[in-house]
Amino acid sequence: MSRQFRGAVIGCGFFSQNHLHAWLDLERAEIVAVCDKDLAKAETAATLMPGTVRAYDDAAAMMQVEKLDFVDIATTTPSHRPLVEMAARHGVSAICQKPFADTLEDAQAMVAACDTTGVKLMVHENFRWQKPFREMARIVASGALGRLNYARFSFRHGYDNYKNQPYLAEIERFTIMDVGLHLFDLARHFLGDVDSLFCRTQRLNPIVRGEDSFHASLRHSSGAVSICETSFWTRWHPHPFPQTFALLEGDLATLELRQDFKLFLHRDGSIEEIAATPAIPEWGGAPWHGIQESVIAIQSHWLDCLRDDATPAPSGADNLKTLTLALAAYDSAERDTAVRIIEGGWK
Ligand SMILES: NC(=O)c1ccc[n+]([C@@H]2O[C@H](COP(=O)([O-])OP(=O)(O)OC[C@H]3O[C@@H](n4cnc5c(N)ncnc54)[C@H](O)[C@@H]3O)[C@@H](O)[C@H]2O)c1
Repeated sequence: MSRQFRGAVIGCGFFSQNHLHAWLDLERAEIVAVCDKDLAKAETAATLMPGTVRAYDDAAAMMQVEKLDFVDIATTTPSHRPLVEMAARHGVSAICQKPFADTLEDAQAMVAACDTTGVKLMVHENFRWQKPFREMARIVASGALGRLNYARFSFRHGYDNYKNQPYLAEIERFTIMDVGLHLFDLARHFLGDVDSLFCRTQRLNPIVRGEDSFHASLRHSSGAVSICETSFWTRWHPHPFPQTFALLEGDLATLELRQDFKLFLHRDGSIEEIAATPAIPEWGGAPWHGIQESVIAIQSHWLDCLRDDATPAPSGADNLKTLTLALAAYDSAERDTAVRIIEGGWK
């Protein structure tokens, strides 16, 4: 198959290695340029890709020269708004890593910039694209669970994340913005929009600056309720990192995602195991394969959207609602009170 869409990856750090390898697996995309403000990282990334891939240390210079269909932004949050706005000005569609932004104002500005020039914008929310969650969505859509009443999404571990992502120990707003966003996206994906939220946080590991544990209780507009929770300070053996566990309860059945991607459907007085183990990419390996496979899945979805002129999932506009939940969660925890989610914010 010929490569149909020309792209560039901006940000060649830790997580971008998954993006770069996944693009290599997707024959419809051709990465023609890579960019990192640290040129050595861009040059190393360029050597991964076949053919002549140009390496840049300045995204503005790259956008002047390259003819692109999309950019894949895998930088940390402060650079997202200038990079997305730059792509929009050049008429280039953009994928933006999470957290989309630190403020709703920045996120709204990116959505508006892309709307104005008619380019697509997707936030790289890969958790809903993990194999077990794709499978759970398929089962929910089949009607097997009936009306959904309750869900729990849990990401608790004691893995030393600070080796690969040292910035996590430094940031003031840590686990809600790092993993909580993914869980809120899952809660909205399965149960729909949220109208109220209560959150509590903890700072447990003395080396971190922000909260490394939180739990939030969400009430959805449908009447369903959900719990989202993370901890980076949990003793557990064998280690589940980087897996998410989940429970979905409906009128007719309950669906449970346990350790090692084991999915169970409790229905009519019996329990059925359903296969949901992700494949290990050739370039990947356990325990990262659940994440790695989801990066291939979300990037493949993005190419489908470019081909079909469809709205990506989640779009920037959709992700405004997820970001609102994360920001509202901090406010709820600080004020020790439930907050109501309203159009464009919370109170
Ligand atoms: N979706 C997931 O599962 C997942 C997992 C890990 C990290 N992430 C997210 O990915 C993002 C990157 O994380 P990371 O761990 O790879 O960080 P990192 O610091 O290792 O890499 C970021 C890279 O971006 C470069 N950069 C920053 N601003 C730039 C700019 N304006 N132009 C060009 N290059 C620029 C930096 O030099 C750095 O090399 C974060 O937002 C993080 O939250 C997502």
